[in-house]
Amino acid sequence: MKKIIEILQDELKGAFERAGYSPDYAKVTISNRPDLCQYQCNGALAAAKEYHRAPIQIAQEVTGFLGQSECFAEVTAQNPGFINLILSDAFLAGYINQMAADELYGCAKAEKEDTIVIDFGGANVAKPLHVGHLRSAIIGESIKRTARYLGYHVIGDAHLGDWGLQIGLIITELADRQPELVYFDEDYQGEYPSEPPFTMSDLEEIYPYASGRSKEDEAYRAKAQEATAQLQAGRKGYLALWKHILDVSVADLAVIYGKLNVSFDLWKKESDAQPYIPDMVQAMKDGGYAHIDDGALVVDVKEETDTKEIPPCMILKSNGATLYNTTDLATIVERRKLFDPQKIIYVVDKRQSLYFEQVFRCAKKTKIIGEDVELVFVGFGTMNGKDGKPFKTRDGGVLRLETLLQDVVSQVEEKMADREMEETERKKAAEKIGLAAIKYGDLSNQASKDYIFDVERFTSFEGNTGPYILYTIVRIKSLMNKVAQLGIEVEPDARIQPEANKTQTDVMLALSRWAETVETAFAEQAPHKICQFVYELSDAFNKFYHENKIVTNPEESVRKSYICLSRLVGSVLETGIGLLGLEAPEKM
Ligand code: ARG
Repeated sequence: MKKIIEILQDELKGAFERAGYSPDYAKVTISNRPDLCQYQCNGALAAAKEYHRAPIQIAQEVTGFLGQSECFAEVTAQNPGFINLILSDAFLAGYINQMAADELYGCAKAEKEDTIVIDFGGANVAKPLHVGHLRSAIIGESIKRTARYLGYHVIGDAHLGDWGLQIGLIITELADRQPELVYFDEDYQGEYPSEPPFTMSDLEEIYPYASGRSKEDEAYRAKAQEATAQLQAGRKGYLALWKHILDVSVADLAVIYGKLNVSFDLWKKESDAQPYIPDMVQAMKDGGYAHIDDGALVVDVKEETDTKEIPPCMILKSNGATLYNTTDLATIVERRKLFDPQKIIYVVDKRQSLYFEQVFRCAKKTKIIGEDVELVFVGFGTMNGKDGKPFKTRDGGVLRLETLLQDVVSQVEEKMADREMEETERKKAAEKIGLAAIKYGDLSNQASKDYIFDVERFTSFEGNTGPYILYTIVRIKSLMNKVAQLGIEVEPDARIQPEANKTQTDVMLALSRWAETVETAFAEQAPHKICQFVYELSDAFNKFYHENKIVTNPEESVRKSYICLSRLVGSVLETGIGLLGLEAPEKM
């Protein structure tokens, strides 16, 4: 089915043509003066130059041909040449009824099942998750769900960091504390114990300690680097320790991501890409792409059109060691081999944008991936505290995501203390609301922007917040319960009637933007557009709810139509928050 804006555009195209102008000027947009009109077309202003005519004259001619259209209740040419459009309620209601019957509420389903890999999460094993990982998880999850909703074949990959210095640091510190462990005996031939010699809380203490120590102690740092190199070269005892670290951390990460309602189809790791490195490097050399610069192997990636300096992409250090780049390039090789994707989306801190620019250019130039495969970098900004500095816990230490989540949930629980609810029900609801507060607080900002983590604002039940959206959904759920209790039958295919009622029109208008919103949010990797949509729809619905009798409306046909509209708003809102990775409770 066509999106509403396409239908309107077609009408405008026809009118431009009939008036003797190119239909290319018939671009329709949502009005930026909602007090004057609902949609607008500024094409006459643009056409004026080509046709050497006053824009208002063109606008008047075009509107003259729109009179017969059934889409509009009112069309006006406005100085200096705007075309203001107000839809007819009958047309709008017709569209909404069609939308209600459509599987995706009017979104176009992906034509061919393109495979999209989404690289998000990016947690590092053995290191605590930080707020950057929180953002990657929240934003990536929403992009993943939106792409899947539209029918793409989507693979979400956690791409864990498990191959760097953090492992060498832990090995070194462990060797210091427990030198008697068999993992350190180079002559040991037997099986290694299946039980790890540490727990997650041990690791949480060991890593920061070792990391701190390495910054002060040069020799210690060198040892850790050597241990990392030996691990990467395949030293057996170290590999066994690494495996333990992985098992312990991944189990812990799975719990945390689970609490965030974030899931991955794949739990791949940087180490999985290592086997692809030798052949990849060889091909880069054979193809004449890579050359030695100051001992290191590099690929030049600068282009003539660059306005800023783009340094070469380093593939191997002068001592032959591989780098973060090498792993990312090899991961592209691996993904192509395993999934042959048409698109790979990386959701990573925007401070890595130059880095990814280098990696993408290098991948294309060295032909490890085809020109037609889209490599997309979604760089996000920093989550700041109220002081405008990167968010820290109250004691200034590293943040445990569980602690953050727990804090927010407790605040929500306090707010709900006076609700007549069973204790467990209240707790469950508070968990959903707290999570929605955090996620919506994040997602409602354009991803690339920094934002301030403001618990009071995020947990508010009013305004543009997660809890407000959930509240609206809960309101509709209880409305529907009432409908069921009263035994009011509204057939699944019952129709929404046009009504001369501004609050209903506003709800329909908000609803009608669903398809456009979701498709754009996907194309631009912009979940904040879905937030904006659910907020505007909630707002419009709540006004409608306050100003009209719905369940108790004396007019039967109106009652049914209103119930039908409310039901649709409820489903669309729930689908919308589903794309954001939120869930609504039954009561709140
Ligand atoms: N582990 C990295 C970090 O903590 C993020 C990984 C992002 N993804 C990637 N393919 N490089 O910074």
